[in-house]
Parts: sequence; C-alpha cells; structure tokens
Amino acid sequence: MKEVKIESKLSVFDDFNELPPDVAKLMENAIEARRNAYAPYSKFLVGAAILLDNGEVVTGNNQENASYPSGLCAERTAIYYAGAKFPNAKILKMALTAGSQIQTTKTPIPPCGACRQAIAEYEFKQDDPIEIYFMGETGKVVKSDSLANLLPLGFDKSFL
Ligand code: THU
Repeated sequence: MKEVKIESKLSVFDDFNELPPDVAKLMENAIEARRNAYAPYSKFLVGAAILLDNGEVVTGNNQENASYPSGLCAERTAIYYAGAKFPNAKILKMALTAGSQIQTTKTPIPPCGACRQAIAEYEFKQDDPIEIYFMGETGKVVKSDSLANLLPLGFDKSFL
C-alpha cells in the first residue's frame, strides 16, 4: 500500500477589479446572466458566461422548476447551449457568479459536482483545458486553469 497525494492549484484575485480586462468582460456577461436567472424557489441566482475560440460568448443561468429536480444549473444551461449551437468550437474560459436574494454572497461559489462532470466532458472532448473563474456577488474571484483541478479522479470516456 502506498499513499497518493492529489494536489490542485488555484489562483485567487482579491476582487473583480483585479481581473484581466477580457475576463472582467466575461464576468460582466455572467453577472448580467445571473440577474436573469429563474430561481423563485431557492432564491439563489447563478450566471455563467463561456468564451469560445470563435469569439462567441454564450451565457446561461439557473432555471428552476416547481418539480425541483427538473431544474438546471447555470453552468449546464450555458455549456449545453454552447455545445448545441457551436459544436466544433473550443471553450476557452468560463466565468461564474452566484448570489442569494436573501443575503449578499461574498464568497466565491464553485460549480456543483454535476456541473463539474458536465464541464469535464467538454474539456476531455476538446483536449484543451478550460479556464474557470468563479465568484459570489462581491469579493474574491477564484481561478482554476483547468476543470481537472476541480474534479480530480474524474470519470471520462477513456474508461468506456
Ligand atoms: N446552482 C447552479 O446554477 N449552479 C451550481 O453550480 C450550484 C447550484 C443552482 C441550482 C439551483 O437553482 C440553485 O442554484 C440552488 O441550488
């Protein structure tokens, strides 16, 4: 038996103003998407913006449903739309922002496990890393150079 240590590297920006201009612009798209989220049940609004290598930006937000499990997270709404509309484009960056209508969300909100799995599929498909930036409404922004950092020991098509 031997122990195996898995390490993930993340970068942390003090706030939105520290972001490089292209990422700040993408995050603004995510913020706009967050404001349009349909989240009457959780009151937790999430926005996602995806920059593709063809220059297009695709956004999405969470869409809830009275039958709770039928709703969908912002990240998957956005990435499935990107896959549907631009099947051959590569995803360069994703910006994510989340905020509760009950209290101001000041901590960076990472994508949920199901969304990490969905993003991993596209990272594997395109064979190039996807940069992911996530934040709350204010405060620090976390950057991961690749989805793999957020989902170690991921399951992918190479196992099938
Ligand atoms: N949500 C997302 O949109 N993305 C995540 O990664 C985490 C959760 C949504 C789902 C639901 O509408 C609300 O946030 C509360 O879980």
